[in-house]
Amino acid sequence: MAASCVHLAFLLCFMIPATIASPRSLRESPADASWPTTFFEVDRPLRPPSGSSGPCSTLLLSTSFGSTFAKPPATAAYSPPRCLAAAGGRASAISLAVLEWHATCRGAQLDRTFGVWLGGAELLRGSTAAPPPNGIVWSVSKDVTRYASLLAAGRSTLAVYLGNLVNSTLPGVYHANVTLHLYLRRAPATRPPPATAPADLVVPVSRALPPNGGGLWYQIQSATDVQSTSVALPSNTYRAVLELYVSSHGDDESWYTNQPGYRNGPFREVTVRVDGVLAGAAWPFPVIYPGGIYPLLWRPVAPIGSFNLPTYDVELTPLLGKLLDGKAHEFGFAVTNALDVWYVGANLHLWLDPGSTTTTAGLTSYVAPPANAASSQSGDPVDTHYQATANRTFSATGWVKSSYGNITTNATQTFGLEYTLTFETLDRTTVARAGVSATDHAGGVLYTEQTRRSFPLGWIYEQGRLTVTHGLDETTVAAGRWWTGPGYRSVRITQSSVVEDEEGGGKAWGVRQAYRYEATDGCYLRNVTSSGYGVVSDHSNKVCVKGGAVRATSAGDGAVRAALPAVAGAGKAAGLVRN
Ligand SMILES: *[C@@H]1O[C@H](CO)[C@@H](O)[C@H](O)[C@H]1NC(C)=O
Ligand SMILES: *[C@@H]1O[C@H](CO)[C@@H](O)[C@H](O)[C@H]1NC(C)=O
Ligand SMILES: *[C@@H]1O[C@H](CO)[C@@H](O)[C@H](O)[C@H]1NC(C)=O
Ligand SMILES: *[C@@H]1O[C@H](CO)[C@@H](O)[C@H](O)[C@H]1NC(C)=O
Ligand SMILES: *[C@@H]1O[C@H](CO)[C@@H](O)[C@H](O)[C@H]1NC(C)=O
Ligand SMILES: *[C@@H]1O[C@H](CO)[C@@H](O)[C@H](O)[C@H]1NC(C)=O
Repeated sequence: MAASCVHLAFLLCFMIPATIASPRSLRESPADASWPTTFFEVDRPLRPPSGSSGPCSTLLLSTSFGSTFAKPPATAAYSPPRCLAAAGGRASAISLAVLEWHATCRGAQLDRTFGVWLGGAELLRGSTAAPPPNGIVWSVSKDVTRYASLLAAGRSTLAVYLGNLVNSTLPGVYHANVTLHLYLRRAPATRPPPATAPADLVVPVSRALPPNGGGLWYQIQSATDVQSTSVALPSNTYRAVLELYVSSHGDDESWYTNQPGYRNGPFREVTVRVDGVLAGAAWPFPVIYPGGIYPLLWRPVAPIGSFNLPTYDVELTPLLGKLLDGKAHEFGFAVTNALDVWYVGANLHLWLDPGSTTTTAGLTSYVAPPANAASSQSGDPVDTHYQATANRTFSATGWVKSSYGNITTNATQTFGLEYTLTFETLDRTTVARAGVSATDHAGGVLYTEQTRRSFPLGWIYEQGRLTVTHGLDETTVAAGRWWTGPGYRSVRITQSSVVEDEEGGGKAWGVRQAYRYEATDGCYLRNVTSSGYGVVSDHSNKVCVKGGAVRATSAGDGAVRAALPAVAGAGKAAGLVRN
C-alpha cells in the first residue's frame, strides 16, 4: 500500500488523508454560521407533457436516519394516490411521475448511500451530501414515469435504506421526506405505441431483505463474486429491458482513479448473465461522492450524478427465446475487477402482449467476445506515465412472434476506456454505445434507438491547486413506427471544481458547471458558478441554440475532450473568492 503512494497521483497521498483524519479541521467560511446551506446537483426541471393535470403530491415517507447502518430499511405502506384512482387508476393515465427526495442534516456527517424501493423495485439511489457541522438541506427530483405500472399496481411497501452511523464526532442525523408528484392525462383510448409506453410489469431482480437488514441491493465483494436471482417471465412477454443500479463503496469507492497494478486498476464493468450466459454489460459512470477526492470541491455544488445515480439499460429482447418457457431463469450480476464492495440491483421491465397469452421467440445471432483490457507504463521511475485501455463489443439478434407480428430485434453494445495517469494529472474517458432496432417481417422499422454516452474525468494538480473536471454526455437518436417520443435528445454536463492552498493555511474553492439539454421537444441550458459556499452566478434559459434541437447526429467523440482544456482553466475564470 505504501508503495502506491509513490505514484498514485500524489494528492491521494498528500491531500486526502488529511481530510479523512480530521474532516472538521478545514477552515469554514464565515457564511457557515447561518444554517442550513443548500447543496444541490445541477439538473433540469422536469416538465409534464402539455395537456397534463397536476401535480397531485403525496408524502410517502418522512423519517430520520441515526445509526441505521445494516439495520432494516424504513418502510411505509403504499397505495396509489387517490387522484390516480379518480383518473381511472390505470398506469397509462400517468403522464409524468416525479419522486422527490428532500433531506436535511445538522451536524457533521459523512456522505452515505441510500436507496428507495417500491414493492422491492429500486426507484432511486443516491449519496447524501457530506454535511459540514452547520447543517445542510438538499433535494433530488427524479423522473420515475417508467415505473408507472408499479405506481398504479395497488398496495405495496415503500422502503428507504440509508446506512448512517452516528457518534460524537459525526453527530449528523439525516431527516428525509419522500414525496410522489403525479401529472395525469386522460387515459388514451388506444394503447400507446409499445416503444414509448412504460413497461406493463416491473420485476425487481435484487436481494431479499437479509435478517440483519441493509439495502435490497446485492453486495458484490470480489471479481469472482456472482450474485443472482431466479425469475419466471410471463409467457406473453414480447419485450424485456433490464435496468441496472450500481454503486461502488469501501475499497472500490474510487476505483476510477486506481493506477494499473494498484487495487485491480482503473477498469470495471458490470456484467449481466442469464442462466450463466453473458447478456450485456454496463461500464459505470465514475460517480464521485460528495466526500470524494477532496470534500471542499463539492460544496455546495454536488458532483455529477452523486445525488441521483445514473442507471444503465440492457436490452434483453433478443434473448427471450430461452426465457418464455414458463420456467424460472437465473439473472446474475458480476463486476469485473471488483474489490469489496459494489451494490448492484436491477429491475426487469417487461412488455406483455395484449392480444395473446403466449408469445414465441428465437435467438438468431449472438456475438459476445471477451472484453479486452491492457495497460502499460512509460517514462522514468520519478515521472511515470500509466496508461490503460479496455474495450468490449456485444451483439444479439432474436425474433419474437406476438399479436404484433414476427418482430426481429437487434441489440448491440460497444464500450471503450482510455486512461492516463501521471504524477500531476489524471485523464480518463469511458465511451459506451448501445443500439436497438426492431423490424417487422417486411423489414419495416418499428423502433430504433442509438445511444452514446461519454464519461470524461480528469484532474490536474499543480502549485497547490487541484482542478477536477468531470463530464457526462449522453445523446440518443430514436425513430420508428412504435416511437412517438423526441427523435433527438442530448444531455451534456461539464463540471470543473478547483481547490487551492491559501497563504496562512486555509483553502479556497469554487465550481463552474454547464448543463445543456437539447432535444426535439425543447432545450434547457444552465450555467452555475460557485465560490466557497456561495453561488456566484446561476443562469438558465430554454432557448434552443440554432440547429441544436434538430441535429440528428450525435456529437463526435472529440467533442467532450475538446471542451475539457477550456473548462480546466475555469477555476481562474470563476474568480475564487478567498475566505
Ligand atoms: C466516529 O466515526 C468516525 C468514522 O467512522 C471515526 O473516524 C471517528 O473516530 C468516530 N469518533 C468516535 C468518537 O468514535
Ligand atoms: C417533511 O415534511 C414535514 C411535513 O410537511 C415537515 O414538517 C418536515 O420539515 C419535512 N422534513 C424534511 C426533511 O423535509
Ligand atoms: C481493443 O483492445 C485490444 C487490446 O487492448 C486492442 O488490440 C484493440 O485494438 C482494441 N479495439 C478497439 C476498437 O479499440
Ligand atoms: C420469425 O422470423 C424469423 C426470422 O425471419 C424466423 O426464423 C422464424 O421462424 C419466424 N417465427 C415464426 C414463429 O414464424
Ligand atoms: C445489428 O446491428 C448492428 C449495428 O447496427 C449491425 O452491425 C449488425 O449487422 C446487426 N445484426 C443483425 C444480425 O442484424
Ligand atoms: C453558459 O455559458 C456559455 C459559455 O460561456 C454561454 O455561451 C451560454 O450562453 C451560457 N448560457 C446561459 C444560460 O447562461
